[in-house]
Amino acid sequence: MIQNFEFYNPTRLIFGKEKIETLSKYLPLGSKIMLLYGKSSIKKNGIYDKVKLTLKSFNHIEFGGIEPNPVYETLMQAVELARKEKVDFLLPVGGGSVIDGAKFIAAAIPFEGSDPWTIVSEKAPVKSAVPFGTILTLPATGSEMNSGAVITRNSTKEKFAFGSVHTFPKFSILDISVLNSLPKNQIANGIADAFIHTTEQYMTYPINAQLQDRMAESILKTLISEGPKVLSDNIDEEAGANFMYSATMALNGIISMGVPTDWSIHIIGHELTVLYGIDHGRTLAIILPSLYKRKIGDKIAKLSQFAERVWNINNGSNMEKALKAIEKTEEFFNSVGISTHLKDYGDNIDLEFTVKEIISRFKSRNIKGLGEKGIVTLADIENILRDSW
Ligand code: NZQ
Ligand code: ZN
Repeated sequence: MIQNFEFYNPTRLIFGKEKIETLSKYLPLGSKIMLLYGKSSIKKNGIYDKVKLTLKSFNHIEFGGIEPNPVYETLMQAVELARKEKVDFLLPVGGGSVIDGAKFIAAAIPFEGSDPWTIVSEKAPVKSAVPFGTILTLPATGSEMNSGAVITRNSTKEKFAFGSVHTFPKFSILDISVLNSLPKNQIANGIADAFIHTTEQYMTYPINAQLQDRMAESILKTLISEGPKVLSDNIDEEAGANFMYSATMALNGIISMGVPTDWSIHIIGHELTVLYGIDHGRTLAIILPSLYKRKIGDKIAKLSQFAERVWNINNGSNMEKALKAIEKTEEFFNSVGISTHLKDYGDNIDLEFTVKEIISRFKSRNIKGLGEKGIVTLADIENILRDSW
């Protein structure tokens, strides 16, 4: 039976071609805007110039240099500047990192506690946030239409999520032209991230949530059929539009309504990013196959449904179908250029250290088990990391 739920998502989506050019319609008149961006991509691909053209008629300042996996220490510099300049609207232009960074900045500017890091580390209540609208340049995280953000603290090598009802974007512009400048590895990351957002909200146990299941399966099938077309040298524009919309739908709250969720792959994956800087989407593709194999007994009903409905695997026992589906999923990640083995991500990675460090971090956070019903125990996590090698 579907669990009780409430749904709220106030983000206006502005999707399609030549939509960045319509930005002025959505910016609040009379406000002091802070344009936020990453390292350099928007300056190279012309998006910065387009946005600046619009911003000419608005009172604004800018802050660039937000890193991939946005860093608290950098974001706090933006918070100080925004407070000093009395900024009252933020405009992040970038991928999930810049948008997540903006969410933290938005919540930290009016934060009354003494240490804004507690918003992330202790989930200190966010009572208000500076409003913001986004221009998404990398379909992947869904951050453009959700209220969550993942922030890294360099000094302690911690990467944690926070979310608040106040940190939904007011609007998000999804202009498919942004795909033209995206490196293939980033597109592949986006495919994996959106895919695994969907499975985190689907691959648990059945509760007869027919529509949520079929919506999740549709997203997965769309990513499988359209994702590879976006990787070809001549980007298929229609495939790009389908990919972009799928990534948003994978994490805007719609498919998780009233269903159990997992998120263990993300929680383990974040540790691989803080330890080794591995791109977020790739960390998930490393963990998924071994985690699903280790937890096949608990997840068998959904894994075999996934096998039938997403991969068209209809022969064999449920166990055989489930195993085949995990194999097909791993092959899919490999086919878009993502290795599913930790050892392929650098000579500096030591398996024993990785296992010891992650288990000790989880112990110190008092984690006994992750995933739906806490089924992924610390012993499982150790085995999963070893299997992922
Ligand atoms: O920094 P710039 O120069 O902008 O370059 C970026 C960055 O190097 C580049 N890029 C972005 N758009 C581009 C482009 N290059 C050329 N053309 C374009 N159009 O791509 C690189 C990666 O960008 P980033 O924003 O880091 O990638 P992504 O969107 O995958 O975001 C990853 C972050 O989102 C978090 C992750 O943990 C990670 O920190 N997540 C956020 C979630 C959320 N808010 O709901 C959920 C996710 O599970 C995820 O954890
Ligand atoms: Zn993710």
